Amino acid sequence: MDSFDLFEVAGAQLRLSSHAVLLHGFALPDVGELVPAIADIEAASPLRHMVTPGGLPMSVMSTSCGMLGWVTDQRGYRYTSVDPETRKPWPVMPEAFASLAIRAAAEAGFPGFEPDACLINHYAPGARMSLHQDKDEQDFAAPIVSVSLGMSATFLFGGLERSDRVARVPLHHGDVVVWGGADRLRYHGIMSLKDAPHPLLGSERINLTFRKAG
Ligand code: SIN
Ligand code: FE2
Repeated sequence: MDSFDLFEVAGAQLRLSSHAVLLHGFALPDVGELVPAIADIEAASPLRHMVTPGGLPMSVMSTSCGMLGWVTDQRGYRYTSVDPETRKPWPVMPEAFASLAIRAAAEAGFPGFEPDACLINHYAPGARMSLHQDKDEQDFAAPIVSVSLGMSATFLFGGLERSDRVARVPLHHGDVVVWGGADRLRYHGIMSLKDAPHPLLGSERINLTFRKAG
């Protein structure tokens, strides 16, 4: 895998591309509100290993909150308004989640973000997310806002073709990555997680991915 140089901008930001930025520690002030809210969501719509259309269980465990939740099973990838496990609407997106996502999007140059879906992924050591595009949303005008909590991970940020060169970007607790515009359909993923326990969350990484899906 090739890698390419990234450029530090304004201290707390790392520009990954023309319309993609890593906001170092942007979510840190919100962690105290986010963590208990995540537990409440997972009490209502439990974490599960979803299955890819090819029939393979994902290594991450997932759930969602918001008007829409992203699901995958043998029928394919899609958004639903009802959790197929509980047969109830997905838990409401907490105000603290939406507020963080909207502020991060604006900071990255995408004012007026209206997230209606938040996918929550839990990574144990060894879990990974292979290169993919986020393309199940109705339109691609809105950015993706991705919040990292707990153990550090290596984010893979590629191009518009799967075979394009891929940057390896360390993501730490409280980091937020935003990509949209010309970069909205870039391939991305997460390398297999190393076990380096985090003081607050132990041997776990949690990722919140905000989208305007509907
Ligand atoms: C994803 O692309 O769905 C997850 C990215 C991450 O875990 O940071
Ligand atoms: Fe993604």
